[in-house]
Amino acid sequence: MAVSIKNSEEIAKMHVAGRLAGEVLDYIAPFVKVGITTNELDQLCHDYMVNVQGCIPAPLNYAPSGHNPYPKSICTSINHQVCHGVPGDKKLKHGDIVNLDITTIKDGFHGDTSRMYYVGEPSIQARRLCETAYLSMWRGIRAVKPGATLGDIGHAIQSYVEGMGYSVVREFCGHGIGRRFHEEPQVLHYGKPGTGLRLEPGMIFTIEPMVNAGKAGIKQLGDGWTVVTRDHSLSAQWEHTILVTETGFEVMTLSAGAPAIPD
Ligand code: MF3
Ligand code: CO
Ligand code: CO
Repeated sequence: MAVSIKNSEEIAKMHVAGRLAGEVLDYIAPFVKVGITTNELDQLCHDYMVNVQGCIPAPLNYAPSGHNPYPKSICTSINHQVCHGVPGDKKLKHGDIVNLDITTIKDGFHGDTSRMYYVGEPSIQARRLCETAYLSMWRGIRAVKPGATLGDIGHAIQSYVEGMGYSVVREFCGHGIGRRFHEEPQVLHYGKPGTGLRLEPGMIFTIEPMVNAGKAGIKQLGDGWTVVTRDHSLSAQWEHTILVTETGFEVMTLSAGAPAIPD
């Protein structure tokens, strides 16, 4: 199926779903502390989405082909976990870094965004990794405009990440998003300038680079979801949902508590 171009009504609904997803990340920030479990974070986010926002948490029972249904409402990926970490009863400890990935459904449309959180004070290396992943996402976002290509986005991310001595995960990518959680196109976080699909106004997709401190290799755990680095090095990820506009891009998942946009 082709890449869909969203009309103005669809874009308006995507704006709402996106902002709400960002607001879940704002809401949960003060709870991300030493001693809380990822199950507790999951429950808090679930209740906020359902009871306060009137949203459906998209991950809950999400079952793409080849996967068992995802059992929780958010993804919580700690330290060497790359993505799709399943919340559990382990307590967060001082120095952990954790990605919380939120996908809301509001009025039939999806908003998808994630951030890194520090549990207490991170190591210098962990902080540098998280900051690099954040800046790499923004390099990718800034490459978005009509006429640019998906390869331009991937190249902007990859060249920055590798220049910092880190690596980009290949097996997972950004994705079109709308009425469905994962739509075409696939948005790779590596690539060559000028290659791949040409961007047009009205396309909406995520940019969500996974950056490993060590090698790029990953493996999936026995729960069928949690992905970890093969070499057990730390991994960091950030995600926004992006609209291609007539002049460039618009970030659909911004919220009041989002970290500062880099210069
Ligand atoms: N939110 C993830 C993404 O960015 C997908 C999570 S699928 C789940 O695409 F089932 F693990 F929730
Ligand atoms: Co996504
Ligand atoms: Co996500």
